Amino acid sequence: MRNVKSDILDTLCSLVALLIEKKALKKIVLSKPDAIDEIKSVIVPKSISGEYAIQIETFSKDNKAYHRNIKNNFEKELRNIFDGYGQINVISTVGDCQYMRAKSGKETLIGDKKIKAKLLDGNIEAATENENNKTKNYILSGNEDFLKKLGISDETGRIRDKMQAKFRQINRFIEHIEAILDKLPKENINIYDLCCGKSYLSFAVYHYFKNILKMNVHMICVDLKSDVIEYCTNVAKRLDFNEMQFVCGDIIKYNMELKPHLVISLHACDIATDIVLNKASENGADVILSTPCCHHELNHTINCETLSFVTKHSMLRQKMCDALTDSLRLLKLESEGYRVDALELIDPEDTPKNIMLRAIKKHKVNDEQQAELKKQYENIKNFLLGK
Ligand SMILES: C[S@@+](CC[C@H](N)C(=O)[O-])C[C@H]1O[C@@H](n2cnc3c(N)ncnc32)[C@H](O)[C@@H]1O
Repeated sequence: MRNVKSDILDTLCSLVALLIEKKALKKIVLSKPDAIDEIKSVIVPKSISGEYAIQIETFSKDNKAYHRNIKNNFEKELRNIFDGYGQINVISTVGDCQYMRAKSGKETLIGDKKIKAKLLDGNIEAATENENNKTKNYILSGNEDFLKKLGISDETGRIRDKMQAKFRQINRFIEHIEAILDKLPKENINIYDLCCGKSYLSFAVYHYFKNILKMNVHMICVDLKSDVIEYCTNVAKRLDFNEMQFVCGDIIKYNMELKPHLVISLHACDIATDIVLNKASENGADVILSTPCCHHELNHTINCETLSFVTKHSMLRQKMCDALTDSLRLLKLESEGYRVDALELIDPEDTPKNIMLRAIKKHKVNDEQQAELKKQYENIKNFLLGK
C-alpha cells in the first residue's frame, strides 16, 4: 500500500460509502494493481447472515482467487484498498464513475459529480428501486433453490456476474413458454429437452411447470456427455425434482416413449438442431421451441450460381446461410403441419445465437397445401445445392 495522501481517493471513498449506505452499489472493478503478483480485484455487495456486507475478490497471477468480507468501517477499509490500484471503476444503480492514476502520479476522477447530483436530488432510492424492480419482473427471481444449487445465484439470491446472461436467457425462454401455454395440456405434461448440456434451462422449465404452475410434469433431458448427465442426475436428486430424468445418448437414436407435449432445445450444435426438430415433429410434439447454435452444413455445401454474388463474400455467405438454414427448417416444419415463427430469444448483445424457432402443431391441415409446401422445400434445397 502506498499510504499516499489523495483528496481524489478520499472523495471517491466517501461517495462509495454513501452508495453502500443507500444500497445502490453494484460492483467495483480495481485494475492496474501496484502488487506485481496480482491481476485485479472485484468488490460486490453481499448479504452475510442477513447483514449487508461487501466482498472483495482478488485474482492473482498464479490463477488463484482470494476473498475477504467487510462488514463495517467501509470508508476507511476501502480507502486502504483503493490506494493500491491505478484504475477503479465504480458501477452503481445511479451511474458509473472512474478513477485513474497515471504513471506520473496524476489522478483523475470522472462521473462522480453526476452520481452526487442524483444523491442531492434525493433520486437515489427511486433509481435503486427501479433497478431492483427490473429483476423482480423476471419469472425467476434468483432466490430459487435450483438456481443456487446450479451456481447461477449465490446464497443470497444474487445472480453471479458470470451467469447474468444465462439467467436472462432462461427467463426469456420461460416467457416464450408462457406465451404458448394455451397450446399445452393443463394438468399432465411431458417435456423433452434435447441436447440439454448442463440443463440450466431444463431445471428452470421443470421448476416453472411443477412449482409455479403446480402441474404434473415428466421431463426427459438427453445429451451425449456422460459427465453432465451424471452431474444433472445428482442435482435433480438433491432438489427432489423426482420427475426429471437424464439420459445419456445420441438424440438421433433416442426413442421418445412418452408423447411429447413440449420439446425444447437451446443451442444444439449445428445439425443437432435439425435432428431435434425432426425427432419432435415425427413424434407429433404439440409445441417445439428451439434456439439453434452454430450453422455449418449449408455454408459448406451451398452450390448456387445465382447466389454467387453473395457467397463470394465469406462474411455475407455465413449470414445468408444462417438465415436460409433457419428458414428451411421452418418451411419443413410448416410442411409437416406446424404453424411456425422465427422470434428473438434475447438481446443480441447477450449472444448472436438468439433466434428462437417456434412451431405449434395445427389441429387441421390442408393436404394440398402441405404437398405444395413439401414441393417448395425440395425445390429450394435443390436450387441451393445445385442439383
Ligand atoms: C452448446 S451446448 C448447449 C447445452 C444447453 N442446451 C445449454 O444451452 O446450456 C450443446 C449440447 O449439445 C449436445 N449434443 C450435440 N449433439 C448431440 C447429439 N447428437 N445428441 C445428444 N446431444 C448432443 C452436446 O453434448 C452439448 O452438451
